Amino acid sequence: MAFTPPYPPRPVGPLGLLANLRGFRRNMIGVWPVAHYRAEFLSFKLLRRRLFVCNSPDTVRQAFVENATAFERKSPQMRHALEPLLGDGLFVSDGAVWKERRRAVAPVTHVSRMAELTPVMTEVAGEWSARWRALAPGHEIDVLEEMAEMTAEIICRTLFGRRLGSDAARQIVRAFTAYQARIGQTAVAAMLRLPEFLCRIQPPGIHAEVRRIHAVLDRLIAAALESDEDCLVRAMAERGAMDRTALRNETATLFMAGHETTANTLAWSWYLLSQDGEAAARLAAEARGVLGGRPAGHADVDRLPFARSVIEESLRLYPPVPVLAREAVLPAKIGGRPVEPGSLVLVIPWLLHRNPTLWDAPDEFRPERFLGPPPARYSYVPFSLGPRVCTGQQFGLTESVIGLASLAQDFSLTLRPGHPVMPVSRLTLRPGEHLPMQVARR
Ligand code: HEM
Repeated sequence: MAFTPPYPPRPVGPLGLLANLRGFRRNMIGVWPVAHYRAEFLSFKLLRRRLFVCNSPDTVRQAFVENATAFERKSPQMRHALEPLLGDGLFVSDGAVWKERRRAVAPVTHVSRMAELTPVMTEVAGEWSARWRALAPGHEIDVLEEMAEMTAEIICRTLFGRRLGSDAARQIVRAFTAYQARIGQTAVAAMLRLPEFLCRIQPPGIHAEVRRIHAVLDRLIAAALESDEDCLVRAMAERGAMDRTALRNETATLFMAGHETTANTLAWSWYLLSQDGEAAARLAAEARGVLGGRPAGHADVDRLPFARSVIEESLRLYPPVPVLAREAVLPAKIGGRPVEPGSLVLVIPWLLHRNPTLWDAPDEFRPERFLGPPPARYSYVPFSLGPRVCTGQQFGLTESVIGLASLAQDFSLTLRPGHPVMPVSRLTLRPGEHLPMQVARR
């Protein structure tokens, strides 16, 4: 039986200015009125900035593929939040720097390297299985935290090599969490085009936090370059003429882009399965049939179609990056409408993935919708699209399928009774601050 997982109440009509500003700051997915979910294209002004929202395959393609150069710059809000930490890293840069870095970074997690990269995922999934097996029956865990730890282990061992990775994960997670807590959700000043000097104001203590993270990263990068183990840091260093600062910025970028996104995907999947016994049983049966108790490896991924469909449906309902925002740097047109430089162009997976003109029962959890032909082009964009599409798409999908299937064959998770779950848009879309669930052996 399909069920409808939670979403914030949808205003019936457009919100007033203050409510909109508050909404953008607190939870960006909650500000969109019912009618906007089916709109193809929206345009409105928020204080001094014009915003365009593309919400149909055609307008999405025009904005992020056809006019990718005019709209390649990340929003001021995103740059403001991440530049202190990532510097000119791929995720926030544009122009010549972005092009050069993309050439050095994208190949290191390319689909052709998946067979080399999956053993670490399998190893960590096996360790997590042993860890959950050692828990007392009915033990409660915070699934959000567990999945964050698991994906941090995977990305750190991949970035720095197995020997350095474990220790690195603990240090880096602590440092990044502190940064995110300080930076908060949005830099509304930058988004609204308030004067430059107001936009540059950062929360107190942020620079000390960044210095701490950079020191940890510099130490790990130096050790990874001296070690003889293959790892992404070495692969990037060998590919491009990157100095140590560039290498640090790209290492921070890969950790940040690849850690919480995948952790949230897995946490949401566990939540959705906990509310749909039939889907959970089907997944467990598929995983047990293919894996027979061992953790999944590279060759298993294609033999786990239902596990993949649960991940894909979870990415549709709760895209970890719910808003893709760009600042126009050149004049261009979308749907025949002129878009002036300085405007914000948004593709909002949260809206697009729930557009009732594109999806049947868009608010329901129906993983089997991904078992058939793929969704219409440009209607499903959890990894973005166009030249700036996520470079870690295969890595993130593979890691999610391996993690979920390896654990779901042996364990079922039950949400703490009465615990409220509601998606909240922070830097990523999370099921609140905690997700307490009991672990039971199947
Ligand atoms: C389920 C997991 C993941 C999701 C949903 C996801 C989603 C995204 C999205 C939506 C973007 C574009 C953001 C924008 O346009 O504003 C992006 C960019 C990026 N992602 Fe991922 N990602 C995931 C996993 C990963 C992993 C595992 C890595 C690396 C190992 C990674 C590396 C990157 C990088 C480097 C960029 C910047 C690309 C550029 O600007 O050229 N991601 N990701």
